[in-house]
Amino acid sequence: MELGGRYRFKMKPNQEFHLYHFTDWHLLNKACAEKHIDERVERVRRDPLCGVIGTGDLIEGIDYRDIRWDAEVFPDGIDVRHLDDFARFSMDYLGAKLDPIKSKILGLGLGNHEHVLLSRTRSWHVWYDLLRSLGRTPYRIADETCRAQDLSAKKRYEKLTADVRSARQWAPGCANLGADLGLLDLVFDVKGKGEYVYRVCTHHGYGGARSAGTVINQIVHFLNFADAHITLLGHQHQPGEYTVNTLGADEKLSRLRSHRRLGVVGSTYLATYQNGVSSYAGRKGHRPTLLGNPIISIKPEKGEFSVSWN
Ligand SMILES: [Fe+2]
Ligand SMILES: [Fe+2]
Repeated sequence: MELGGRYRFKMKPNQEFHLYHFTDWHLLNKACAEKHIDERVERVRRDPLCGVIGTGDLIEGIDYRDIRWDAEVFPDGIDVRHLDDFARFSMDYLGAKLDPIKSKILGLGLGNHEHVLLSRTRSWHVWYDLLRSLGRTPYRIADETCRAQDLSAKKRYEKLTADVRSARQWAPGCANLGADLGLLDLVFDVKGKGEYVYRVCTHHGYGGARSAGTVINQIVHFLNFADAHITLLGHQHQPGEYTVNTLGADEKLSRLRSHRRLGVVGSTYLATYQNGVSSYAGRKGHRPTLLGNPIISIKPEKGEFSVSWN
């Protein structure tokens, strides 16, 4: 669980804020539709009033030491040097992709693909390095910290833990939304109207959706306990959105008030099925899907928010 902080935006009345949800890109899988990701990044770069939140699986993170290894979908041009430190290589690749829009990235969470890679290779430091690099303060935990062979295992563990702790405290600008629940506030300061706070909950999601109902059930599951206006989920590789309106009244019980809670599952840029290629996603029976990620448009003082996919 991570409390990702508050981000403040100055706006004029009737202006619309765009919240770009990035999820399940699976960079460095051959089936990743990277051209479309580049277009989305460019759109964010040109958007004057927006923010980005990521909910994980932005990298594929599977190398030959992983039980899910699949040579058929491994991209061409990756040589053994990259595989030797695949966590660093993958995070650097993602960092380069996000660099043109780093001032707009509010927070990033981890998906199961990042989590497995970082745990398996004991490379958590590269995650904090990514957050730091997006926070506009270039800094790296030296790889040698973890790999130093002249240190005993205990010393290496102590040094790594200390370095990761300090990186965690030092990641400014891009919130760490962690590997489970994240919460983050968007505070809109609308000229002449006042301040409006929209709370965003994030989670990568879980399980493997084979049915349309799974997608909606997972959104409803989180809407039932996440106290937020907008809940962003991923993992299902299917687009989904669901809204719950609760009915109440103002404090004097003189006017009805409704509260809207929106949940979104953000689809993917992984084109699972390609002629002549057998992928692990295909073998798991993932359904063909709409490639893309959602954009949530918010008109703060009107209490309106809606989802679009292109
Ligand atoms: Fe995914
Ligand atoms: Fe996932």
